[in-house]
Amino acid sequence: MNFFRKPIFTGFGPNITKKDNFIALSFLFLPWNWPFLNKGFWEKKVEEKFKNYFNVSNVCLFDSGRSALQFALEASGIGEGDEVLVQAYTCVVVTNAINWSKAKPVFIDIQNDFNLNFEELKNKKTTKTKAIIIQHTFGKSISELEKIITWAKENNLLVIEDCAHSLGAKLNDQFLGTFGDIGMFSFGSDKIISCVRGGALITNNKNIAIKIKNLKNNLPNPKLIRTIQHLLHYPLFSFSKPLYNIGIGKLILFLAKKFNIINKIIYKEEKFGFPTKFYPSKLANSLAKILFFQIDNLEYFNRHRREIARFYNDNINNKKISKPEWNEDSVWLRYTILMEEPSVLHLKAKKQGIILGNWYNTPIAPKNIDLSKTGYTPNQCPNAEILSSKSINLPTNHFIKIKDARKIVKIINNL
Ligand SMILES: Cc1ncc(COP(=O)(O)O)c(C=O)c1O
Repeated sequence: MNFFRKPIFTGFGPNITKKDNFIALSFLFLPWNWPFLNKGFWEKKVEEKFKNYFNVSNVCLFDSGRSALQFALEASGIGEGDEVLVQAYTCVVVTNAINWSKAKPVFIDIQNDFNLNFEELKNKKTTKTKAIIIQHTFGKSISELEKIITWAKENNLLVIEDCAHSLGAKLNDQFLGTFGDIGMFSFGSDKIISCVRGGALITNNKNIAIKIKNLKNNLPNPKLIRTIQHLLHYPLFSFSKPLYNIGIGKLILFLAKKFNIINKIIYKEEKFGFPTKFYPSKLANSLAKILFFQIDNLEYFNRHRREIARFYNDNINNKKISKPEWNEDSVWLRYTILMEEPSVLHLKAKKQGIILGNWYNTPIAPKNIDLSKTGYTPNQCPNAEILSSKSINLPTNHFIKIKDARKIVKIINNL
């Protein structure tokens, strides 16, 4: 391994900009900013910016997408005894949100584009079904979206679009998240834009919006220590990433995680189906400020992702690899290919300083969760199981240049 090779990451703070670092450091080290770490006007400003962007009447911010999702269900009156249809090939925080709202997740298998199968959705509906969560996986809209919305309306079902991967993506020139009753977004560190941890709900339904706002207003402010941890993510990742291949960066990040200096994406309790002590909460003012300026990068980030995805699409020619069907409207959060034994590619890439992604390498990710707490039982969704055993994500974020993508393609074509 060449230690001085530029490291290439799929995750690891893929959206960090100089501006984010500047804001984070100014909150951490300028004492006159400390009173505004948690409280201030930036949340309102972000909500207004998103209202204009989506042309919707209600936007509400939360500490994360997972909290937003749980409150979307609760505000819509979904709870005990109700069933929520949701795809497998998703994240445990999604199933937790459903379970914590006291409803029951009913799993739908996926198609080869990683989105849910409409026929199976229809078959799994029962008299207890109250809502559908439509996940637009990796930034691509489910093709039958409009048909599903019509069918849901006919059957009096609430539709929540899970746009955690697809902020800014469109279908027929309309933003994803504005088709259903509620759109849910995530600003977690590996999403389309980021403030380390954050989420939002958008809706044009006035009654639901009032309930969402009430739920949000009753939440506590974030714990100061958590806000500081999130802000530390910026200098730590920015400093460690270039030094990763020589071992120093890797060690710093390992120690920062081990000693809880930076946050975890999913906490241990969540992996076992239990809520954490410190969430849900409101979104910290300092993170909302970072998010406000991240929105300005949205179009550029998505254009860049599409360009890199196009490069993979045009240049990967190994017959052992199955590429996703090209889609001009997708925002390509990650370019996910399928192969037998993805671990071989993970290892080959790692030897060259390239860390590829593993979303989703199990039907309910990540691998080390207590599956029995999610409600999913093995063999329930066979295609999700097959695809998750073959999935490997290639990076498309703004740090990846065409020459980096070329290196990745070369490794794949030589497999
Ligand atoms: C499909 C999907 N939905 C929702 C979420 C929740 O987002 P957050 O991490 O902001 O809680 C995630 C998180 O990774 C996700 O992958």
